[in-house]
Amino acid sequence: MKKKLVVLTGAGISAESGIQTFRDTDGLWEGHNVNDVATYDGWLKNKELVLDFYNQRRKQLHTVLPNLAHEILAELEQDFDVTIVTQNVDNLHEKAGSTNVLHLHGELLKVRSDRNPPLEILDWNKDLNIGDLDKSGNQLRPHIVWFGEAVPALEKAVSIVQSADILMIIGTSLQVYPAASLIDFAQEDILVYYLDLNPAEVINPPLNLKIIAAKASKGLQTIQKELNKLK
Ligand code: OAD
Repeated sequence: MKKKLVVLTGAGISAESGIQTFRDTDGLWEGHNVNDVATYDGWLKNKELVLDFYNQRRKQLHTVLPNLAHEILAELEQDFDVTIVTQNVDNLHEKAGSTNVLHLHGELLKVRSDRNPPLEILDWNKDLNIGDLDKSGNQLRPHIVWFGEAVPALEKAVSIVQSADILMIIGTSLQVYPAASLIDFAQEDILVYYLDLNPAEVINPPLNLKIIAAKASKGLQTIQKELNKLK
């Protein structure tokens, strides 16, 4: 039986593909007000602005490719039972060939009815505009979990982390909850890697935590070599 490898990823894994992170210098939240574009209040105030922000992000997906870090995670499926729980709304894990990806914060390539629970969640690969409606006439909105909104995939993510034999955390500042608290659900004695260019302080460090301060692609090459000994 393959060991269960669970990987929690954040914006840092897509940085080498040319997608901006959120909180680094030059990150997305430097140039945009979070309250304007990533809250339900912002949406109520100015839908055009919010749609424009996510339309730009969706368009960018056509111009970027997975990097070596995404590719190594896809490759690890040969030897491990890999599940990726990502905070990212891009599709680079899937593009690299990973087959088991849970998106905690939604997906740029989906839209949903502006009502709770959503009547429809639709695949969407073009601009979303005012007047784009679901089958009952509700405006469609980006399928993104905004600040202050519930995280529907959380329960599933918790049980995935609980089942891990090995856990990896890659490219996240661990500042956004509940995503950052997922580590706390890992079994006590498992091996945990935290790979980040500039690792944040881990609040409740697991017993066997290895911190690697490196770019995702470089650090994953190191981890891959180590994991080869454990498979
Ligand atoms: P952040 O922008 O908060 O953190 C990015 C992390 O990636 C930082 O810790 C960087 O040090 C690291 N990093 C940057 N370049 C890297 C590289 N080449 N290799 C490895 N690490 C690198 O992004 P997240 O933690 O993912 O939510 O942010 C979490 C959530 O906050 C996002 O999902 C988003 C945002 O608001 C929503 O939009 C709902």
